[in-house]
Amino acid sequence: MGGHMTDIIDRSRADMRADIYDGIVAERRSVRAFLPTALPADLIARLFTVAGRAPSNCNAQPWITHVVSGETLERIRAVLLEQAKAGALDPDVPLTSTYVDQYKSRRIGSAVALFEATGVGRNDQQAREISFLRNFELFDAPHAAFFFMPRYFGLREAADVGMYAQTLMLALTAHGLGSCAQGAISHYASAIKRELGVSDDLICLFGLSFGYPDADHPSTAAITDRAPLSETVVLHD
Ligand SMILES: Cc1cc2nc3c(=O)[nH]c(=O)nc-3n(C[C@H](O)[C@H](O)[C@H](O)COP(=O)(O)O)c2cc1C
Repeated sequence: MGGHMTDIIDRSRADMRADIYDGIVAERRSVRAFLPTALPADLIARLFTVAGRAPSNCNAQPWITHVVSGETLERIRAVLLEQAKAGALDPDVPLTSTYVDQYKSRRIGSAVALFEATGVGRNDQQAREISFLRNFELFDAPHAAFFFMPRYFGLREAADVGMYAQTLMLALTAHGLGSCAQGAISHYASAIKRELGVSDDLICLFGLSFGYPDADHPSTAAITDRAPLSETVVLHD
């Protein structure tokens, strides 16, 4: 085969790979309803191995991940729900108290998408509360990951953990699985650390519920949009 044909085949292969990647990224969405079916242990190991290929400052790999299933997860679910109902927040990382301007409207947009899909009236405080509490039921997921890093690390390493989590979420999507990153889980950091036997030298950044999506659940219809490139990317020549 001539060099020209090989070039064309190489290019179309590269296009296909890019299309597959873009497709996986586009397909990933926060899943807020799961089937009880547990994932095989070797698949869990594979997913977290892939996640660990994420880049990090100086390759420090600051993520310390606890993957929780089975009885321990049931215990955590119960403790989280109890804490959430009591409402005594105890996060390692302070919550962002105000969102303004475009951040505020995007935040509202994501909440509206979920509420409309699940039939929660905007002014129905009780239904909103029940919807929020789903976070602490971990959306009925059979597995959850809790992401920690050493307390003395800062924003740079937290960004690394974010890259790790996104690598994991894309891998889950590629396997037909679903996930939801959950900052809400970190609201009760002390309780989680106590239950998992995690040292207070580590901080809990966020969690991630994952498993097989329950495709029939109304929350599946919640779709978020994205700001146009012109709002988020500044190009310089
Ligand atoms: C670090 C992080 C924390 C999040 N915390 C929560 C959470 O506590 N509860 C929740 O329902 N969704 C949570 N989300 C999901 C976001 O709401 C969601 O990613 C956003 O609305 C975009 O929607 P999409 O993931 O479906 O594309 C979180 C996402 C990230 C990245």
